[in-house]
Amino acid sequence: MEKHFQPDILKDLHVVVTGGGSGLGRSMAMRFAELGAAVTIGGRRPEPLAETVAAIREAGGRAEGIELNIREVEAVETFIAEAEKRQGNVTRLVNNAAGNFLAPTDQLSPNGFDAIVKTNLYGSFYATQAVGKRWIERQEHGAIISITTTYTQFGSAFLIPSAASKAGIEAMTKSLAAEWGCYGIRLNCIAPGPFPTPGAWERLMPDPKLEAKMMNRIPLKRHGEHRELTDLATFLLSDISSYCTGAVFTIDGGEVLTSGGEFNFLTELPREQMLAAFSKMRK
Ligand code: HXC
Repeated sequence: MEKHFQPDILKDLHVVVTGGGSGLGRSMAMRFAELGAAVTIGGRRPEPLAETVAAIREAGGRAEGIELNIREVEAVETFIAEAEKRQGNVTRLVNNAAGNFLAPTDQLSPNGFDAIVKTNLYGSFYATQAVGKRWIERQEHGAIISITTTYTQFGSAFLIPSAASKAGIEAMTKSLAAEWGCYGIRLNCIAPGPFPTPGAWERLMPDPKLEAKMMNRIPLKRHGEHRELTDLATFLLSDISSYCTGAVFTIDGGEVLTSGGEFNFLTELPREQMLAAFSKMRK
């Protein structure tokens, strides 16, 4: 069965996507534009920005790309002001820009920690505040999505700047959902499991054998398709989700359930062997 939104579901929206030139940000920007939104994407590298803007326009969508270093508060303010100059009031924000790498924590330099935490947590705060204060001042409703991760729940070895900063984003989201709900501003997080992108996958998946192992522990036995994530994001930006705020939406094929459960590894045994083992343990 084909699954579709109304083709113009986002038509009245101006959506800003940070880190929108590549990876999941690019996929979201493409999908939002396809569904009628004007999209402004920000990022550090001009080439991916230009390529994504060209692809959106070629498909008949509205897009602008503006260079942005999300770690600098003044740059974020200028970025939002410029986005509004080009395409009118921003009505939705997706905090997507993120950095990450695998490193043993005893060898992590202060600069390495800063690079990730400033990009993820500070950058999301800067952008959220820049749009939120405008909406409150102008008495406009709005919605914000932040892309986090499932390892905010139980942490993850070798990824502490990412885990800590994304957990901070989730706390910020819940806090602001309470503080800004009275202004009609909704904030939610999407916590994706494995959605391969060239950037993140190369950085975080050092060996194909490990990838196979990772897929095997996912109940749905596969990685996610970008369309599955972009449709969840569309739902959260649109008014269909008008009663959702302060929530973290996990989209991971069930991965977090199996990686967090102490005895979940027993699902790897063939069923007959598992039943035999259980029955032997029965008094
Ligand atoms: C150890 C590292 C490092 C690495 C950088 N550093 N990479 N340390 N291992 N692999 C350290 C550097 O040594 C330096 O510290 C400091 O970090 C800053 O490094 P720079 O080279 O100056 O890079 P910078 O431009 O500041 O940015 C670093 C970066 C960047 C943030 C990691 O590569 C980046 O912007 N990546 C964005 C793309 C990305 O990773 N997206 C994927 C997110 S996916 P010193 O002390 O030497 O000065 C995600 C989801 C995961 O988060 C879920 C998957 C299942």
